Amino acid sequence: MPEQLGFRHKVVTGAADHPALVLLHGTGGDEEDLLPVGELLDDEASLLGVRGQVLEGGSPRFFRRIAEGVFDEADLIFRTRELADFVAQARDAYQLNGRLVAVGYSNGANIAASTLFLRPGLFSGAILFRAMVPFQPSTLEQFGIPRDVDLRGLPVFLAAGRNDPLIPADNTERLAELLRAAGARVTLEWFTSGHALSRAELSLAHVWYHEDFLGNGESQSVPV
Ligand code: MLT
Repeated sequence: MPEQLGFRHKVVTGAADHPALVLLHGTGGDEEDLLPVGELLDDEASLLGVRGQVLEGGSPRFFRRIAEGVFDEADLIFRTRELADFVAQARDAYQLNGRLVAVGYSNGANIAASTLFLRPGLFSGAILFRAMVPFQPSTLEQFGIPRDVDLRGLPVFLAAGRNDPLIPADNTERLAELLRAAGARVTLEWFTSGHALSRAELSLAHVWYHEDFLGNGESQSVPV
């Protein structure tokens, strides 16, 4: 079982014909944090909640940072690969046969964005709340990683807060541009909220997931 890789995690097995949502928490969270968000998005999906392995003053994170919003890019790249390997092994071990969708908040959204670029093909879609540009494209060259990743058609939902004190609006816009430049189909929604998640964006993420990602038009009633 994937415990041997060291990631603490929680699995909820859903319907075989539904996606598996990989839930990645913000700083100070854990593998249980986003389970309610996953259930709200799709109560028939399988859920894989993962706990980040880096501790910052006792608070779990997915990678180290040098300061608020300044990432240790070498650590981010190392941790992204480690997480991607874990997710792939967990998918096989738990027979999560549906498409994998990354659902991340803040620090979890940042490593999810990093995974989209570094391990294209692992996720079939992503819902990223309060995400930032994980690393500059030029950083990839320093690590010998090809810059021109192909994310053609990848559906990505980004939810950002106009009053977020941690993430400048142009940073989010740049992330959307980087994803679009790689071919991803990006929906960027702005909310009046700060860094905390609001009901309005969970509701819109639910609509996007059902109408845009699953494409089944079943989301007329939004359960939030
Ligand atoms: C990060 O470090 O990933 C971002 O600053 C968001 C956060 O976790 O506060």
